[in-house]
Amino acid sequence: MAGICQGRVVVITGAARGIGRAHALAFAAEGAKVVVNDLGAQVDGSGSSAGPAGEVVAAIRAQGGEAVANGDDVSDWAGAKRLIDCAVETFGGLHVVVNNAGILRDRMLVNMTEDEWDTVVKVHMKGTVAPMRWAAEYWRERTRSGETNDARIINTSSASGLYGNPGQVNYGAAKAGIASMTIIAAKELGRYGVTVNAIAPAALTRMTENLGFGRMAKGVEAGQFDAFAPENISPLVVWLGSTESAAVTGRVFNVAGGRISIADGWRRGAEQDKRDRWNPSELGPVVEQILSESAPPETLGRDADSGVVWRLSSEVTDERPATTRLTPSTPESARCVDRRR
Ligand SMILES: NC(=O)c1ccc[n+]([C@@H]2O[C@H](COP(=O)([O-])OP(=O)(O)OC[C@H]3O[C@@H](n4cnc5c(N)ncnc54)[C@H](O)[C@@H]3O)[C@@H](O)[C@H]2O)c1
Repeated sequence: MAGICQGRVVVITGAARGIGRAHALAFAAEGAKVVVNDLGAQVDGSGSSAGPAGEVVAAIRAQGGEAVANGDDVSDWAGAKRLIDCAVETFGGLHVVVNNAGILRDRMLVNMTEDEWDTVVKVHMKGTVAPMRWAAEYWRERTRSGETNDARIINTSSASGLYGNPGQVNYGAAKAGIASMTIIAAKELGRYGVTVNAIAPAALTRMTENLGFGRMAKGVEAGQFDAFAPENISPLVVWLGSTESAAVTGRVFNVAGGRISIADGWRRGAEQDKRDRWNPSELGPVVEQILSESAPPETLGRDADSGVVWRLSSEVTDERPATTRLTPSTPESARCVDRRR
């Protein structure tokens, strides 16, 4: 299959379902050789199955494309290395890594468990940095041996992290971290011929069907453009993965339906400079002045590219769950005790 990614070797994580699956089929349709990585996990990250990744590989081969399945957990350091090695060993090189794998364990901060925090942060943050790290080493070694790279990393952030969605403090923090690591990695890897960008997508998948998308998507009539289809996210990712995007790096793009925009990140805004140290008692009017000269923060419900008003899953409340442990498991000796009593 000829196209803008002809002959390029592309690793896509979490490529068995949803947005990742759409990326895999779209890259293959543009001539790429695809490593379809997926653990085959549930939305909350539990379980595993080789079936879904194998089905995507079969679909690519049926179109006349080239693909191989990989079932490694991308948030495992050694697993991420095996994934990168799989691309090089199977197809003789590596041009593009699309970090897309993800899970959700939504919970209000006040009810969040340690496991819900750790698992979500691990899958998203370590599951993004680990494939980047091993791919970066591969590209650095090529540079050292006199080869040139025209390589790409495309990470997956989220409006939830960039603009803030209640009930997702774990997921949002990880997704904001992915936006940051994209900017830093872009600065580090440019010297090896590697660009690094991220997307913040919005589409109807099993991950978002409870967040308001499902209800809105039901209004799409047969034959009309489906603005909620995961396939709408992939053209930008395929273009970013092509050699045509060489001048673009360190950027985060919002993408949903037919809409693409730049997530214009943290900037130094309105400023007051005393040219001396402030006294805390002076700062009320100073902060008021700065805020009056600043745009209000973006809000997810108002400005998400999809137009969707994100909702909490119905089970995410700030009511205390029946399972909450009120007794700390900390040993008596380590507990904070008020000695005055
Ligand atoms: N759907 C949206 O509107 C939306 C919005 C913002 C961000 N995102 C992000 O887009 C990405 C894709 O989401 P989706 O909506 O297609 O979800 P999805 O649940 O349909 O697909 C995620 C895939 O990742 C796989 N996966 C999970 N943990 C893995 C691991 N450790 N190693 C390898 N594979 C693993 C799952 O098995 C699954 O196939 C995620 O990073 C998600 O956070 C999605």
